[in-house]
Amino acid sequence: MGIVLEVKGLSFRYDKRQDRGNVMDVSFQLREGEWTALIGHNGSGKSTLANLLVGLLQLDEGKIKLNGSVTKKEQSFEHIGIIFQNPENQFIGTTVEDDVAFGLENINMSYEEMRERVDKALLDVDMLDYRMADPSQLSGGQKQRVAIAGMLALEPKVLILDEAFVMLDPRSRKELMATIRKLTNKGMTILSITHDMEEAAHADKVMVMERGRIKTVDSPSQLFFSDSTLEKPFAEKLREALKSRKRKVPDKYMTEEEMVLWICKSN
Ligand SMILES: Nc1ncnc2c1ncn2[C@@H]1O[C@H](COP(=O)(O)OP(=O)(O)OP(=O)(O)O)[C@@H](O)[C@H]1O
Ligand SMILES: [Mg+2]
Repeated sequence: MGIVLEVKGLSFRYDKRQDRGNVMDVSFQLREGEWTALIGHNGSGKSTLANLLVGLLQLDEGKIKLNGSVTKKEQSFEHIGIIFQNPENQFIGTTVEDDVAFGLENINMSYEEMRERVDKALLDVDMLDYRMADPSQLSGGQKQRVAIAGMLALEPKVLILDEAFVMLDPRSRKELMATIRKLTNKGMTILSITHDMEEAAHADKVMVMERGRIKTVDSPSQLFFSDSTLEKPFAEKLREALKSRKRKVPDKYMTEEEMVLWICKSN
């Protein structure tokens, strides 16, 4: 898969008088159709990095390349979408479809094409049936879906989710994670910022941020197996707990599904 986004030597500090940056010399690549989770303690710089990527903050140093070319400020707004924690603040339209169409009204586009894009985006997030609904009357999970549809309609290359699932119940969270997987299968590139290790475990790659720097980039299986400082997904916690009680467990990371299969087999 090709590299969609390449970040090199990104640095930023809010207070230019400070010695220490809030984002320091950050470099990484995101590939097409890949889901990357960005984790790290409060204040490690995840949201700052996200805001730099979408152009809401201006870099002090470094380069952001989209499909090989260096982004200008206006471009990054178009090509990199972002969804925040609270969808309430992201609604403008009086119906769901108006809302999804809103971003398109600034782009010169025929009514038919707009219609098509809005319907496709709503279908992608399973909200087509709600097209005429009032966004303010939707549930939290539905609102987040509509917010995602609004971004998808703009056909971004990369979608960033900054703790976008925090307010959702476990079921909506699971459903939205399935939606994210569906989107990456269609080629969308996702960067999801999260404190939820179950969510991170579902990603293809996990980046760990620490005090403004990217500390590690690895697959969830490698990372959660090898880094003893991290909070672990449930299945890995269980595996470690069994191991410490001298139970015979596989000496490798298991996803929840793999753990279930292993338990069924060993009984
Ligand atoms: N608007 C701001 N002005 C000044 N400093 C800021 C501002 N926003 C964030 N910071 C500082 O920058 C650092 C990184 O903050 P950031 O919000 O990027 O962290 P985060 O990793 O997203 O944390 P969290 O997990 O709590 O969301 C912190 O030390 C924070 O205090
Ligand atoms: Mg944050």
